[in-house]
Amino acid sequence: MNHLETLNSRFAIAGQLRFDHAGDGLIVAEIANAHASATLCLQGGHVMTWKPATAGAPVVWLSKLAKLAPGKSIRGGAPVCWPWFGAHATEAGFPGHGPARTVPWEVTGTRTLNDGSTEIALAMVDSDAIRAMWPHPGRAELLVNVGQTLKIALTTRNLGDSDFVIGEALHTYFQIGDIAGTRVLGLEGCAYLDKAGGNVRQRQEGAIAFGGETDRVYVDTEAECVIEDARLKRRIRIAKSGSRSTVVWTPWAEKADKMGDFGSGGWREMVCVESANALENCVTVKAGGSHTMAVEYRVEAMM
Ligand code: BG6
Repeated sequence: MNHLETLNSRFAIAGQLRFDHAGDGLIVAEIANAHASATLCLQGGHVMTWKPATAGAPVVWLSKLAKLAPGKSIRGGAPVCWPWFGAHATEAGFPGHGPARTVPWEVTGTRTLNDGSTEIALAMVDSDAIRAMWPHPGRAELLVNVGQTLKIALTTRNLGDSDFVIGEALHTYFQIGDIAGTRVLGLEGCAYLDKAGGNVRQRQEGAIAFGGETDRVYVDTEAECVIEDARLKRRIRIAKSGSRSTVVWTPWAEKADKMGDFGSGGWREMVCVESANALENCVTVKAGGSHTMAVEYRVEAMM
């Protein structure tokens, strides 16, 4: 169980990592080292913020109105969507993006690496409620490394004796200066499902620029993506492995207003570029086997 004192006595690292209460009864890990600072909420195994020491602005965006409450998803950061992405295939009443992002996770280890970065390992706490929605003996684990780059690896273990299929995403919200001057590169020529455009299949021509709600699931792509931010004059590089889909999402004004937790104008300052396995890229995890999807984010100044 996640008790603050126990967590701090077992897993705190002097001068680098400590646990504290946040919001309405949740616990967050606060990490700061020579390279970067970050926060991670134990509910959802949810990286909420990441700011490299050399960056003028955070790289991972968190809404000013993000709700930190039991069972609620947090607007911003890097939600873990698992074991399905988007709406459940058959059960309309099941939570969008799966239950992993709104349930408790437990810390299984912390350490400082030789390069001075900080690592925290977590596992999702299994429960009857999750089993009722997803009746498989599967375990989700997360390994987060906070350094000059941010690395997140999501591992699914199949502890049973039959194969199962998962969908997943690291649904990261990136901080940008202004969505209007932002482009996403790396998906040129890729096929995508246009969720904001009548669920039709399209092919990406050139870089992605934004002029309205954008909600696209790109398939069959393992490419690194780059967010080019003209306002903050920087590039965010998103490298990935074990992921064959990339989701690009921004709600624009009307949808963000309806969602209620973006804050005034918050939607202008974020874009989601999600490393995923969705649609035809859902993954079969073999009996007794495992699958890892991993990302690494870095930021660089634009000359
Ligand atoms: C994206 C989906 O990944 O997440 C969008 O493609 C969805 O359709 C968005 O609106 C946000 O989802 P949620 O459940 O966090 O509001």
